[in-house]
Amino acid sequence: MFSLTKKIIKHQGIGCMSWAEFYGSPIDDIQVLSLVKLAIENGVNFFDTADVYGYGVNEEQLGSAISKIMGQGISTREEIVLATKCGIIREKDDPSKRGVDNSYDYVMNKCNQSLSRLGPDIGYIDLFYLHRVNKDQLEDSMKAMAVLLDEGKILSVGLSEASIDVIEKANSLLKEYTQGKHQISALQTELSLMSKQALSNGLLDFCRDNDISFVAYSPLCRALLTGEIENIDDLGSDDFRRSLPRFQKENIKDNLKLLDAVKSIACDKSCTTAQVALAWVKSIGAIAIPGTTKENNLLSNIQSLAINLTDDEIHLLSNIGSAKGYRYTEAAMRAYGFDDEI
Ligand code: ATR
Repeated sequence: MFSLTKKIIKHQGIGCMSWAEFYGSPIDDIQVLSLVKLAIENGVNFFDTADVYGYGVNEEQLGSAISKIMGQGISTREEIVLATKCGIIREKDDPSKRGVDNSYDYVMNKCNQSLSRLGPDIGYIDLFYLHRVNKDQLEDSMKAMAVLLDEGKILSVGLSEASIDVIEKANSLLKEYTQGKHQISALQTELSLMSKQALSNGLLDFCRDNDISFVAYSPLCRALLTGEIENIDDLGSDDFRRSLPRFQKENIKDNLKLLDAVKSIACDKSCTTAQVALAWVKSIGAIAIPGTTKENNLLSNIQSLAINLTDDEIHLLSNIGSAKGYRYTEAAMRAYGFDDEI
C-alpha cells in the first residue's frame, strides 16, 4: 500500500500554486527550476500542484523543472513525489465561474490532460486528488481512480477538503473497486494556526487512526502568519487574497493580533513566526506544504523542521483563536460545499 509519509524524505512539501498565479505575477521557468532544485537538494521531494493552478500552467512549470533536474542527474523520478488534483471547474473566460465535477469521464480525461502537461519524463502521478468532492459522484470518481491505479497512471488517491463521512465512503468504495489493494492515502485540507477546523471536527484524529496522511495547505494562512502583510494595500492589484475575507480591513487587524503569542515563542527560539507556524503543523502530525516563490523563504521553511516545540508551547498555540472571516468568499464557500462553516 502507498504511504505518503514513507515516500517523502522530509516531513514537508512545497505548494506550487503561487508559481503560476493567485499571489501576484507568475514566476519564470528559471526561478521555478531554482526552487525545485533547492528543495530537492535540501531533502524536500514532495511537490503539490493542480490542474486549475494557472489553468494548467503550474503543471507545465513543475513537470518541465523536474524533467530538467532528472536530466542533470540530481534526482530520479522514483525519488520525487508529485501530487496533482482534478475536480474544480474553472473557466478562463469567466473567472467567477466555479463548480465541481467528479464524474467518471471527467476524472479520466483530467488525469490524461495532467499527464500530458506534466510531460513524458514524469509519466505517472504519485498522488491524484479530487480537489473538491461531490459526494453524489463518489461511486463514479472512485471507479475512475481504480482504473487509473490499475493502468499505472496514478500510484495513490487523495481527497481535498472532504468530511469524515465522505472519506469513509470513498475509502470503502476504493477498497472494493481495487480488491483491497488501495485505500485513500491522503487528505489535503487547509490547516494552520489560523484555520484549526480539522482539530475541532475530528478530521486530524480520524486520518491518523485510518493511516491517511494529512496534508496541510495554506499552513501560513496565505502569509498572514508571517506578519509581513499588515494591510490589504500591501497586496498587488492582481493578488487573489484581495478578495478573501480574512484580508479585508475589518478583519486583518484582529487577525494579526493572533500573532502575539506566536511572536513571543518565535522570539524565545530566535526564529520567525512562519517557522513557529510550520513547526506547530508538524507537531500535530500534519505534513505542511507551504507555498513560496523565494529561495530564502523556502530554506527558512525547511529549517523549521528542526524546531522542537514544548508541550506547553503546542498547547498554547493550539488554543489561540481562529481567524476572523471565512476562508474564501461566501460564493466560493457555497460552491465548494463548505456550508457548515458559514
Ligand atoms: P499557500 O499554501 O496558499 O501557498 P501559505 O503557504 O500559507 O499559502 O502562504 C504562502 C504565502 O506565504 C506566500 O505569499 C509566500 O510568499 P513568497 O512567495 O514571497 O515567499 C509567503 N511565504 C512563504 N514562506 C515564507 C517565509 N518563510 N517567510 C515569509 N513569507 C513566506
